[in-house]
Amino acid sequence: MSLPDQASVTAQLAAFTADLAQAGSLRDAQAVRDRFLGRKNSVVASWMAMIGGAPPADKKAIGQRANELKQAIEALWSEYQARAEQNSRPAGAIDVTLPGRVPPLGRRHPLTLVRDRMEAIFTRMGFAIVEGPEVEDEWHCFDALNMPAEHPARDMQDTLYLAAPVVGESGRPDDTRTMLRTHTSSIQVRYMQAHEPPIRIVAPGRVYRRDDLDLTHTPMFSQMEGLAVGEGISLADLKGTLTAFAREMFSPSARVRFRPSFFPYTEPSAEIDISCWQCDGGGCPMCKRTGWIEIGGCGMVHPAVFEAVGYDPERYTGFAFGIGIERVTILRHRVQDIRLFFENDLRFLEQFPY
Ligand code: FA5
Ligand code: MG
Repeated sequence: MSLPDQASVTAQLAAFTADLAQAGSLRDAQAVRDRFLGRKNSVVASWMAMIGGAPPADKKAIGQRANELKQAIEALWSEYQARAEQNSRPAGAIDVTLPGRVPPLGRRHPLTLVRDRMEAIFTRMGFAIVEGPEVEDEWHCFDALNMPAEHPARDMQDTLYLAAPVVGESGRPDDTRTMLRTHTSSIQVRYMQAHEPPIRIVAPGRVYRRDDLDLTHTPMFSQMEGLAVGEGISLADLKGTLTAFAREMFSPSARVRFRPSFFPYTEPSAEIDISCWQCDGGGCPMCKRTGWIEIGGCGMVHPAVFEAVGYDPERYTGFAFGIGIERVTILRHRVQDIRLFFENDLRFLEQFPY
């Protein structure tokens, strides 16, 4: 017998395939396999046996050929077995006693759920939902909101500027900086520029600040801006709207407190506090023992803002508010730490069922 070469491998594989196709039963097929692969008297075994008597220069090549043939036949054999297994199963045989497999269901993020709920509440009160860009120029975020360059209120929010400059709306040569919006109030400005009163909108979106992480602060968070402009809109409308919102969002007994504050674009201005859900006003670490949690800021639109967007401040009045959506979610669902919203831990996310 001559020493096996590459052509012998090919020939043996062809023979194996042909013999296997002829096999009429599993037993026959196993006999074919044993003739090629068996430990004794098989083709592979006889090739292995040749190594001992072969010239030293050929030993390695023979071993390689034998291994090649062995692996190829093993592969063909497992394919044959898989096919046989499939064909032997009667069509339509299903084990009905096996427990069903429930596919994992995705769900909405808690912040999305709360944003949707807030939108639904304000929509019912007649507010339309609008959006604006996250990358802003300084004019829309600051100047038009009565915060000219050098105004100290610009420092109330530490801004993240972008490297790519554009020429801002003011046309001032120094107004060429782009930034990530620090609040959704920039959307108010864009909307008023493009629409005439009466206006009733809410505008949800992400905002960015150079804030340090703690239980209630993150550098990226979400706000929902509200704006109503028309003739004869008063502070009573603002209080009524936000109180109605709080009762629907938290509980019919939720209390709202308007704490005098300052924003350059509203006058008078207030912070919106909600009675702490966790301790119901008794005082706990969540509300820093005050019984109240701030969810946003609000006020009556400053005449300078109306002037910036080309409205007649003698004719129109309006109110505006900006509410933190993470804060509302924390209060509504008693979340202990704002960072949980951004860690994507399913054990946390799966706790929000609706
Ligand atoms: C503002 O951003 C004002 N633009 C709100 C406003 C709108 C006032 C319209 C008047 C008229 P303030 O910086 O307080 O205000 O932020 C509003 C709310 O955003 C806060 O009450 C809080 O709920 C939320 N918030 C602020 N900073 C963070 C932060 N780092 N992480 C999470 N939520 C925050
Ligand atoms: Mg505030």
